[in-house]
Amino acid sequence: MCAYHFRVAGVLLLLLAPAAFGDEAKDALIIETILRLDDFDLGSSEKAQGAVARYLKVNWAGDRYLDLIRRFELKKEAAGVLRLALEKADAPIGAEAASILVGLGGSDLFVKALKGEDGKVASRAAKAISLTGDPNLLAELPRVLADQSRPAVVRSAALKAIYDPTPGKHPELLAMVKAGELADDLKQTASDLLMLSRDPKVREEARSLFASGKGEFPLVVELVKRTGDVKNGRKLFATKTCTVCHQAGAVGINFGPGLSEIGEKLNKEALYQAIMEPNAGISMGFEGWEVTLRDGTSLLGIVTESEESMTLTMIGGASRSVLKTEVASKKQYSQSLMYPGLHRLMTPEELVDLVEYLSSLKKPAPGKK
Ligand code: HEC
Repeated sequence: MCAYHFRVAGVLLLLLAPAAFGDEAKDALIIETILRLDDFDLGSSEKAQGAVARYLKVNWAGDRYLDLIRRFELKKEAAGVLRLALEKADAPIGAEAASILVGLGGSDLFVKALKGEDGKVASRAAKAISLTGDPNLLAELPRVLADQSRPAVVRSAALKAIYDPTPGKHPELLAMVKAGELADDLKQTASDLLMLSRDPKVREEARSLFASGKGEFPLVVELVKRTGDVKNGRKLFATKTCTVCHQAGAVGINFGPGLSEIGEKLNKEALYQAIMEPNAGISMGFEGWEVTLRDGTSLLGIVTESEESMTLTMIGGASRSVLKTEVASKKQYSQSLMYPGLHRLMTPEELVDLVEYLSSLKKPAPGKK
């Protein structure tokens, strides 16, 4: 045992003795301590078990909830982890819960949710399954898509779960649409997905197939002259996929750069360019990498490395850590991880509102709160 462990173990003994702390504060300290001990055996201490049980009960989705479950492989918490994976399927914690549940052997819970009667639960299960990346679970999605007896919302969620995060698969989807293999009630979802494709040819074909009728976009020199509506822009920011990757104020996920003060950094012209032509200039530190693992899995995301491992943060905020020994190759992605063509999801007027909103995001003036 190293000196650090001696100290932590000492603190632990102290904590397990009756003490004057409030119960909750005491439990929280015990939790922090045992999580730091690499070889702590939860089965060996009833007091620690009690603290863990109480903590999990009141802190569903709390800071240490998933850490505890993962560290001590608490299979009996599977139902709570499933609920987290489903209810927070759009946030990083939901993605983490989804992969922990698979690790706990709870894949069948996802399948049950996906096949269940409740359309909302089934749709969320489809999304959560796509975040696990587990091949057996992923194989369930095309079955849902093909089953006409399932409601359109559930099939649409399955379609998104299959094609949304997977750049190489959009031509496949396009071929399906062209061959008339896709149910009519899924056309809108297919169109949305294809417009987000990384491949300009796919986007072009999709545009003519679905003839969105949104017309040509004015040039940036023209757009910068207009004034938009900040309030509507804020609404658009939250609904036009921006929050999948950006945070501004309290909304969104920080996958790409935070935009809370973007109005200080970029003028309107630069904002239009960042949205309409993301590939023209990629912000430092947010370059994408394609990482292929020895087992053939290929991942695309932003990489942070330590000596022995590599963490990839993927679109949607899910992250995955792998040992460097598992990595077969790592290649810089030539394009921005921000999808090109997002402005096509809006009318020019809406884009002007959005940019008006972004350019209003500034540091609070000194003295003001
Ligand atoms: C799929 C993820 C994704 C989505 C969706 C997305 N972005 Fe981005 N965005 C990024 C990444 C990654 C970067 C940094 C790389 C780059 O500069 O291209 C970025 C960069 C930016 C920048 C430049 C920031 C800077 O500090 O220079 C702006 C502005 C921006 N995005 C606005 C938006 C808006 C508005 C939307 C919604 C219409 C949006 N983004 C949707 C991923 C995304």
